[in-house]
Amino acid sequence: MSLKEKLVRDKLPGHVAIIMDGNGRWAVRKGAARIFGHQNGVTPVDEVVKASAELGLRYLTFYAFSTENWARPAEEVDALMGLLVSTIKKETKKLLDNNIKLRTVGDLSKLPGATRRELLQLVDTTSANTGLTVILAISYSSRNEIILAARQIIKDAVEGKITAAEMNFDTFENYLQTSGIPDPDLLIRTSGEYRLSNFLLYQLAYTELYFTSKLWPDFRAEDFYEALLEYQNRERRFGKTSQQL
Ligand code: FPP
Repeated sequence: MSLKEKLVRDKLPGHVAIIMDGNGRWAVRKGAARIFGHQNGVTPVDEVVKASAELGLRYLTFYAFSTENWARPAEEVDALMGLLVSTIKKETKKLLDNNIKLRTVGDLSKLPGATRRELLQLVDTTSANTGLTVILAISYSSRNEIILAARQIIKDAVEGKITAAEMNFDTFENYLQTSGIPDPDLLIRTSGEYRLSNFLLYQLAYTELYFTSKLWPDFRAEDFYEALLEYQNRERRFGKTSQQL
């Protein structure tokens, strides 16, 4: 029985978030420039999107670029931005053919104009799609997202649009960039690093965490199925006891 066949369809996660790590190390091990690793990180994105759409997952989030990544050498940042645009252009037809919707989280105002335009264009073009939603976290920082939410809440409170008593999980979540997106059920991080790296800190409160030593460019659909299988064997208690579930 293949890994895919072993998956129990009604126990699949609705939302999987992925920290695609290890591109640079993968390239350096091959004696190549770091961008070669990023270029080879597109195939696993493709495979995971395809596998997720086939399995009927609802949301898939990729951490493509953090706010902190702006501090990388300019040539790596430029190459990554170029790669994002070329990948987006290449993927447009596939997204449309497969009823996939694209969304972004992060501070897009920092992106080069061309990258931002291509991204927003694709978000717009796919906005009516009803299948899998792919969320790209670009120029994203979770702490920044939370600070921006706090600022907006204060503004709204000053203008009398919200009272302290009205603030609860639901209203707070409306102020986050992930508004309307359910929290991830499963987080996958590749490359043997055990960190959250400023990713979805609020949203990951009860997410199952899965770490693999595989570097992202080597990650394939089979590795994804393996993570999903492991997820299905976890007991999610959300603070309760086993007996209460
Ligand atoms: C982390 O590896 C990876 C990134 C910062 C970029 C990931 C981007 C892509 C794979 C481009 C295509 C993506 C989409 C969604 C279109 P790293 O450079 O931190 O690796 P290292 O830890 O080995 O240095």
